[in-house]
Amino acid sequence: MQLNALRLHNFRNFGTFVANFDSKITVLVGPNGTGKSNLLEAIHLLSSGNSFRPGGSRYLVRFGETKAVVEGGISDSQGLKVKISMVLQRSSKQYLVNGKVSDQEDFLSRFQGVAFLPRHLNIITGNPGLRRKLLDDVLSGVSFAYLATLSRYRQVLRQRNRLLSRRNFRGAEMVYWNEELANLGAGILVERRKLVAGFNKLLRSLRMRLDYYPSPRVIGRELGLESEWNPLTVAKYIIQKLEQTAERERELGFTIIGPQRDDLKVMGQMDQTGELRDLSLYGSRGQQRLAVVHLKSAQLSWLESELGARPALLLDDVFSELDSLARAELIPLFSKQQTIVTALEVPDGLKDSTVIQLARE
Ligand SMILES: Nc1ncnc2c1ncn2[C@@H]1O[C@H](COP(=O)(O)OP(=O)(O)OP(=O)(O)O)[C@@H](O)[C@H]1O
Ligand SMILES: [Mg+2]
Repeated sequence: MQLNALRLHNFRNFGTFVANFDSKITVLVGPNGTGKSNLLEAIHLLSSGNSFRPGGSRYLVRFGETKAVVEGGISDSQGLKVKISMVLQRSSKQYLVNGKVSDQEDFLSRFQGVAFLPRHLNIITGNPGLRRKLLDDVLSGVSFAYLATLSRYRQVLRQRNRLLSRRNFRGAEMVYWNEELANLGAGILVERRKLVAGFNKLLRSLRMRLDYYPSPRVIGRELGLESEWNPLTVAKYIIQKLEQTAERERELGFTIIGPQRDDLKVMGQMDQTGELRDLSLYGSRGQQRLAVVHLKSAQLSWLESELGARPALLLDDVFSELDSLARAELIPLFSKQQTIVTALEVPDGLKDSTVIQLARE
């Protein structure tokens, strides 16, 4: 799976931009503010349909313009060449495959990229949302159904919270939203848990493990940590738990259980005993960052096994944040798939890569 060419029109700071990419390592270099992250963002957009920066599509359109186009020449997982494009307007996005308007599912199935951004370095110690996003990004990358469930769940959660904040709702109305929330939520919990198990197989040789803490917490205990989870049973538990917490929710005015409250702990080996301990509590900054590199490596391998081809690796400014140990782990990973890296200068160890130099206008 590979990006062969990128063409931009009125995207961020670029009026027109065209570049070809090869299958190996490309470094995008240039002074601050020249558009390195914007290029990576455009490539990521082709892979996920969404920016890795906050805000909707209107921020992506060049100042003073009304429409942006991001177009990629892709070799898909079967090696087939396709052209995929996104047309972005202030409040709309359109997907095209080989020049024809297409649906999001078809578009997203063509090209996959794994972003590695500076904020990912805080995955272990930062807020749980970062860790949930790691799981959701991977799952959405292989299953459009998961992405659709997640977006429907978010809608239902918003509606249910709106109802709770009104406080004087009818019981029957809440019964409906409880069922919706539980059914969609159960689908998410079951998939996240399967993914964690899959990741753990890959992480074992790296002396790491992820521990999944689903919400409601009681689920793990009641269903047995080792057993297969069935979405119907999980949904039943969520409904029960929603009934138990109904009064508390009424007081607080929002939903207090469900996958929006899941968490993960990242466990690693810290000493010679071989025991795996919570990296957020015991790990040094360097150990935590190295563990994030290992997580990215597991993410790529897992996606490869699911998609039949390795996704492209897209690194924004991460290199300068890593110590020599983590860099030494990361560099061999680069040559396993197409890798595109942004940096102020070409980093040591990547001197023979293809370089795209950006300059101030
Ligand atoms: N919608 C937009 N229209 C025009 N310019 C924009 C838009 N959005 C962002 N920019 C500009 O794009 C420029 C490049 O941003 P980008 O983040 O890609 O820089 P960079 O090369 O990654 O810099 P750094 O090395 O500091 O990370 C910035 O000057 C920014 O103001
Ligand atoms: Mg940048």
